[in-house]
Amino acid sequence: MPSKDDICVVDLSIQLAPQHPKGLVLANPVMTASGTFGYGVEYSELVDIQRLGAVVCKGTTLLPRQGNPQPRLVETSHGLLNSVGLENIGVDAVVKDKAPIWASWRVPVIVNIVGESKSEYVEIATRLEGVAGVSGIELNISCPNVAAGGLEFGVDPRLAAEVTAGVKAVTSLPIVVKLSPNVTDVVEIALAVEGAGADALCLINTVKGLAIDINKHKNHLRAISGGLSGPAIKPIALRMVCDVAKAVHIPVIGCGGISCASNALEFIVGGASAIQVGTATLTNPRAALDILEGIEHLMRERAIENLTELIGVART
Ligand SMILES: Cc1cc2nc3c(=O)[nH]c(=O)nc-3n(C[C@H](O)[C@H](O)[C@H](O)COP(=O)(O)O)c2cc1C
Repeated sequence: MPSKDDICVVDLSIQLAPQHPKGLVLANPVMTASGTFGYGVEYSELVDIQRLGAVVCKGTTLLPRQGNPQPRLVETSHGLLNSVGLENIGVDAVVKDKAPIWASWRVPVIVNIVGESKSEYVEIATRLEGVAGVSGIELNISCPNVAAGGLEFGVDPRLAAEVTAGVKAVTSLPIVVKLSPNVTDVVEIALAVEGAGADALCLINTVKGLAIDINKHKNHLRAISGGLSGPAIKPIALRMVCDVAKAVHIPVIGCGGISCASNALEFIVGGASAIQVGTATLTNPRAALDILEGIEHLMRERAIENLTELIGVART
């Protein structure tokens, strides 16, 4: 007797960049979140990464960076506070050492990039242009703009649009802009970067936070404040994803505290076309695949043949 799971064939594929001439089709909506999955290579022996929708690599800067001094990670109630500070190998090493490996993979790899000025973002994107193995660029705009006195790109609609347009002008790759939650009106920023040519949006990055050790009378993190992630931020992320998905006409990727398939479906029915799994991977390297299998199972159980039928159905 075939089980119900065998009878219903489900189509999980999604188009992440419908307005881009090349498009970016993912086999399924489950992606890894930047900074929590290395360059994918580190996980390739632990999990079947080729089954993922996409891998997003660690934030890549123009030059290699050592990141912040330790301690730079602390667990909080239902969350994780980090001040890793963008430790990474730099764009040239990504192009030379990682991209050739990615080029042999079926799963698309999106390179998360971050700069301290518009020209740095533009330079990184230029160096990634035409590199085999790179399927897209994710712009992390939660970074201080040195030229604007340290104001983060992601908190100012004009700066966010400028950096998006600057990168768009030098790349033929689809661009995902990853928004910061540390703003008053995320919809305003989303509309600004959509207008500047973003092909998709990802939200949210970490929420600014701080933790104090009452025994040592000191901050837990050497850098003092950090970025909060994990289940504690899920309702914040979900609210922002729902608000933005209603306002824009490009796909939205939901990210923030997703640790099981029902969490992922909350984002999808709220309007996300895809989701990213971050902190959950740090405790369970298989988290993203477990979530993928869970989504597939739930769809079969409910006889939903196409994931696109679910996107945004909870929108009011
Ligand atoms: C240790 C750590 C490092 C991160 N590094 C980056 C990064 O380099 N670039 C980026 O855009 N986001 C980075 N993030 C943010 C995640 O990609 C994600 O947006 C955030 O953690 C919320 O998702 P989560 O709750 O599923 O972890 C990092 C998060 C963590 C926990």
